[in-house]
Amino acid sequence: MVRILLVGATGGTGQAVRVMAGPAGHDVVALVRDPAVTRLPDATVVNGDARDVAAVSTALAGVDAVVSCLGVRIGQEPGTVRSEGTAALVAAMRAAGVRRLVCVSTVGVGDSVAAQSRPARLLWPRLVGRDRLAEAERAEAAVRGSDLEWTLVRPTRLVDGPDSRVATGVDVATGLRSQVSRTALARTLLDMVGTGAHLHRCVTVTGA
Ligand SMILES: NC(=O)c1ccc[n+]([C@@H]2O[C@H](COP(=O)([O-])OP(=O)(O)OC[C@H]3O[C@@H](n4cnc5c(N)ncnc54)[C@H](OP(=O)(O)O)[C@@H]3O)[C@@H](O)[C@H]2O)c1
Repeated sequence: MVRILLVGATGGTGQAVRVMAGPAGHDVVALVRDPAVTRLPDATVVNGDARDVAAVSTALAGVDAVVSCLGVRIGQEPGTVRSEGTAALVAAMRAAGVRRLVCVSTVGVGDSVAAQSRPARLLWPRLVGRDRLAEAERAEAAVRGSDLEWTLVRPTRLVDGPDSRVATGVDVATGLRSQVSRTALARTLLDMVGTGAHLHRCVTVTGA
């Protein structure tokens, strides 16, 4: 059993992680920024903003590992939540001595670009937004520059749907139509937390 701090627990992927963590034998502490949300099914809620190191530190008490599904919802300005929140998370984990971090990023950053088809390389930044991708790059840099036991997970387009087979790896080829369900992504994140797989790697995850 791993006691997991889940960041982004109210989002699409975070909800799936929450629901699947119990049956996988894990316990979840959810960091939730909305103070009106004091209870969630399948998790113990700690209220706080991901950018607030003190709040994250409180949430880390008794935790073995962190899964971050932090993000800015589609249609909202990317801002700096992702980079600042991830940097705060890394700082709080280092201070608390919590080592394992499985952090959701996105395909289309870093060396995953080289494995994208030519149309995807051209159009993905326009579809997602260059600012959003730049934010993801900054968040990744905060993780990669740390001495934590990290894995960065780069999903293709996220869709709602059932669990399904995924391809996971550093060199997985992706195209404009590549997608993965949030359920399958959540299961993959939980597998990584449980096994310590893909340590110090940035891995693409897409539906197989
Ligand atoms: N959509 C795609 O096709 C796609 C593709 C590749 C990668 N991704 C990435 O995959 C990840 C998961 O995506 P998703 O669509 O499942 O997520 P989502 O529904 O956008 O959820 C984002 C989560 O982050 C939380 N959050 C935002 N700002 C916060 C803050 N300051 N403090 C604490 N929590 C905060 C949100 O809380 P609230 O409920 O309070 O807003 C929510 O729980 C994201 O990082 C996204 O960028 C998405």
